[in-house]
Amino acid sequence: MHSHLLPGIDDGSPDPETSVRLIKGLQDLGYKKFITTPHVMEDLFRNNKRTIKDAHICLIDKLKELKMDLSIRYAAEYLLDGNVDSMLEKKIPMLTLKDKMVLVEVSFVSPPIYLKEVLFEMQMKGYQPVFAHPERYGFYHAKPAEYEEIRDMGCLFQCNLLSFSGYYGTPVRQAAEYLVKNGLVDLLGTDLHHDKHLQALRDLPYTPSLQKLVAEQGVMNRKL
Ligand SMILES: [Fe+2]
Repeated sequence: MHSHLLPGIDDGSPDPETSVRLIKGLQDLGYKKFITTPHVMEDLFRNNKRTIKDAHICLIDKLKELKMDLSIRYAAEYLLDGNVDSMLEKKIPMLTLKDKMVLVEVSFVSPPIYLKEVLFEMQMKGYQPVFAHPERYGFYHAKPAEYEEIRDMGCLFQCNLLSFSGYYGTPVRQAAEYLVKNGLVDLLGTDLHHDKHLQALRDLPYTPSLQKLVAEQGVMNRKL
């Protein structure tokens, strides 16, 4: 439920051929259904429903040409920037993972001072925010209580599978394990952008934290 498989609109797959190769790789790993989530960032990837839909059509055409029959839907991964403020203000519908669930991310550089206000505003508009990879934000590592606060607001947490292997470094792995230990993980995603991610997913060890998620929380069984 979190990947960058649509061709040519963000820092994920650059073209339909690459998208197909990545999808086939994920299918080999057992993935059957995809909800792909291109970045929407006002300064970098100025995507909207039209650009995302067009890229989706382009990929579907390629899949049809190759007679590949699979379920691939689109949503988006929204950076909480001015664009989101404006969408909320103008009541422009946001793309959802399912029902009213919307995937959001924040800047890796600094903690957003207005985060709680935006999440609250989203909820006021009827959305269920899903915080993408909270474990990857270094500024929360020394302040894990922030995680509880954000999740207590009603925000769901989505961890990246590769965080558990140490792909993004030891502090990120430790933060992911902290979230599991404290029962704060709601969803898992690949956040797959390119071949390197695919290879790392192939090599992903079935860590004690992942085992715990499956055994105690059924996270990997949650279907969208
Ligand atoms: Fe992502």
